[in-house]
Amino acid sequence: MSIINKNIISLRDKYKDYFPIGAAIRPDDINGPHKEILLKHYNVLVAENHMKFESTQPKENEFTYEAGDKIVDFAMDNNMKMRGHTLIWHNQTTEWVFLDNQGDKVSREVLLERMKNHITEVMNHYKGRVYAWDVVNEAIEDIEDKQLRTTEWLDIIGEDYIEKAFQYAREADPEALLFYNDYNNEQPKKLEKTYELLKKLLEQGVPIDGVGIQAHWDINDVHLFDNLRNAIEKYASLGLQIQITEMDISMFSFEDKRKDIIKPTKEMLEKQARVYEKVFSIFREYKNVITAVLFWGISDEKTWKDNFPVKNRKDWPLIFDENHKEKLSFTKIVEF
Ligand code: XIL
Repeated sequence: MSIINKNIISLRDKYKDYFPIGAAIRPDDINGPHKEILLKHYNVLVAENHMKFESTQPKENEFTYEAGDKIVDFAMDNNMKMRGHTLIWHNQTTEWVFLDNQGDKVSREVLLERMKNHITEVMNHYKGRVYAWDVVNEAIEDIEDKQLRTTEWLDIIGEDYIEKAFQYAREADPEALLFYNDYNNEQPKKLEKTYELLKKLLEQGVPIDGVGIQAHWDINDVHLFDNLRNAIEKYASLGLQIQITEMDISMFSFEDKRKDIIKPTKEMLEKQARVYEKVFSIFREYKNVITAVLFWGISDEKTWKDNFPVKNRKDWPLIFDENHKEKLSFTKIVEF
């Protein structure tokens, strides 16, 4: 039996004059109710985990594309665009990348060679199918007064690891759009650091086409709308396009570690709907620079927020509920 209500408007149709709308998916989402939602509402996809370093090259020079390919084939078969996430990141990258046979850290030269090999191989494999890549993910430090996050990439290669990654990516697939992607990068301090970094790289001629605002937000952030507007304008002033790459709006602020809420209240759902309504109206306003909006998941049935930042705590951050029905948040996004 189909879960789709025929009378419900399609999100991607409603937004056809604005930007593609998408979702992060796992291979098993291309069956069952999630498949129906995808086919009706979305026209751009991203693999939630299966294009990350540990998935695509778990061992040196052993590339595994099966799960990623399944997702890409589904996207191509259904006329959807495909984003690639992600090439260079500090997480979900297997240890071997940074170590030699003795278990010692490799040299800058070796790591640059491995970086180039990885980017070239993976981008080549997906050439012509993945139209935009998150080349570098989360390189900016959260702690004030420090610009770059401490990672093996930075430690072994040095600050130019970011520009190298973008250069290798451009060489590997000159047609692909290249993104720098991060979270909280609409918040003033992190925005400032990101802006400085991107400005410097662009002045040096580093090939960066856009910035990804992950948009892992929550219903209590009172500064969100002003921050978002400001960030969009600032990034756009660099001539970059902007994609909202991983949106979800948690019922909990980051500091809120409560585990006793087993069902969202009406008030929580209404609050969430107001946030979704408002951020989408801002996205529409900036449709000339926002080139895609993607949710990090499909329905509240399963979301990474069930385990982050609190392990085993149910959250309801998406626009379809645990039974795959449209939430008030959905309604508010399409009512304009
Ligand atoms: C998350 C996935 O959703 C989880 O399934 C996985 O266990 C950890 O990674 N920022 C990112 C994403 O760029 O890759 C992360 O995805 C969420 C935060």
